Amino acid sequence: MEFGSVTKYLQDKTILVIGATGFLAKIFIEKILRTQPNVKKLYLLLRAGDTKSATQRLHNEIIRTELFSILRERYNSNFDDFISAKVTMVPGDTSSLDLGVKDFNLRKEMWREIDIVVNLAAVTIFDERYDVALSTNTLGALNAMNFAKKCDRIEMFLHTSTAYVCGEKEGIIVEKSYHMGEPPNGMYELNIDKEMKIVKEKLNQLRLQNATEEAITLAMKNFGIKRARLYGWPNTYVFTKAMGEMLLRHFKADLPLVLIRPTMVTSTYKEPFPGWIEGLRNVNPIILAQGKGKMSYFLGNPNTVLDLIPADMVINAMIVAMMAHTNQSCEIVYHIGSSLRNPLKFLNVNDYSFRYFVKNPLIDMKGNLIEVGETTLLSSMNEFLLHMAFHYVLSQKGRYLNYGEAFTDFAHKTNSLIRMAELYEHFAFFSGIFDDRNAENLQIAARECVVDVNAFNFDPKCIDWEDYVMNIIIPGLLRHVVKRSNTYVSML
Ligand SMILES: NC(=O)c1ccc[n+]([C@@H]2O[C@H](COP(=O)([O-])OP(=O)(O)OC[C@H]3O[C@@H](n4cnc5c(N)ncnc54)[C@H](OP(=O)(O)O)[C@@H]3O)[C@@H](O)[C@H]2O)c1
Repeated sequence: MEFGSVTKYLQDKTILVIGATGFLAKIFIEKILRTQPNVKKLYLLLRAGDTKSATQRLHNEIIRTELFSILRERYNSNFDDFISAKVTMVPGDTSSLDLGVKDFNLRKEMWREIDIVVNLAAVTIFDERYDVALSTNTLGALNAMNFAKKCDRIEMFLHTSTAYVCGEKEGIIVEKSYHMGEPPNGMYELNIDKEMKIVKEKLNQLRLQNATEEAITLAMKNFGIKRARLYGWPNTYVFTKAMGEMLLRHFKADLPLVLIRPTMVTSTYKEPFPGWIEGLRNVNPIILAQGKGKMSYFLGNPNTVLDLIPADMVINAMIVAMMAHTNQSCEIVYHIGSSLRNPLKFLNVNDYSFRYFVKNPLIDMKGNLIEVGETTLLSSMNEFLLHMAFHYVLSQKGRYLNYGEAFTDFAHKTNSLIRMAELYEHFAFFSGIFDDRNAENLQIAARECVVDVNAFNFDPKCIDWEDYVMNIIIPGLLRHVVKRSNTYVSML
């Protein structure tokens, strides 16, 4: 790494951010604009029919969020002018060639101007429809890289993947990219073209049967999970992300390629302020359920290491990696996580969140304080189903006379909970530890060479988990997700 400063490096850069409305993308955009106002231009690609609706999304979903409050205060009445000068909206879609950028002149301008392409677009639902996940997470990754290759001044393509592309693995998981067709269980050879073909066939078959859209969605969701598990991945999301990585590695040619694989991304640790989060992600539904007194049991091994990493640390790592690898002929993977250097166990998260809600109980819709109990972690799906059945019977108080009726009602009420448990099962018992040697070496190099290294910290060792969970994650969740979206009220 050359001696210098990250902010200086960002000066006069033109960066394409793909998937700009996403959780991590917004933090990336805010950080660049706040730390280097002299960045030349950010092209923000998001899904929209035209520039007008893209600009609407920019305002409603990006710059008006609380995340941008520090920037808004800094520029005051000049804020909109600053954004207009630095940001160009690009309506597009990664599932299409040339990222679906229809405006020929804009496309040419982008190919002429862009230095760096950062792909943060993804469908992140674990059991997304297989056809949808394939088109964004797999083909979309390739489309994004092909777009980067057409840029005259391209310095690098940075792609965000996920550490869980490793599939069902145990022990130390190294920062190694996937070879084409190499599945985690090594049982069947994976052929991406064939996967595309069978998805098309499956869709045609469903349409020939006059299946409703709802039935097609369910069938394609189940099909994705089935294909993923055949090869040793737990869900469609990580399966299609892994295939995306394979295509990138295979077709990168001499383009510098940086693969950032975060683990489970949680609320900001420090910047722009602690606790910013969007949506109910990874551990948050479990924490919230506990606060609502609805988590007397859940599936998981108390000693499982939950690899959490704050979102701002992921963004800092991405920016430092950009600086380190600009114009280098490289292909490098970075695990951005905490499990190796500062492990946090499932039982600790439970304990911190229990203690938080004992001290700061939520209030139900009748205005009563909610009493929380400790959560028992159950060691298998069967045990989980037994607990559910037992609690169901208790809750019925002899209401049902016939087994058939009771069984149907039980299945109806518990279906979504079982699905959620099935999707979380992999993470709740995951026994892998993500080696992050590349990320650690990047930090060491940055400490030696980068003058403003402290503003771009991504060292997981400095996280005090008890403080982070109790004073940042939970208050942030309650402030930014629960109250804002009324989830709290409607879910109580
Ligand atoms: N958050 C985590 O815990 C985590 C952990 C590990 C890795 N990652 C990776 O980090 C990246 C960002 O994740 P995130 O949490 O920020 O995800 P996110 O909040 O779900 O955002 C994903 C973004 O991708 C956009 N998108 C989806 N399909 C698209 C398409 N076909 N064309 C253009 N844009 C599309 C979405 O746009 P719409 O607004 O139009 O839907 C959304 O803005 C992803 O690659 C993800 O795999 C995230």
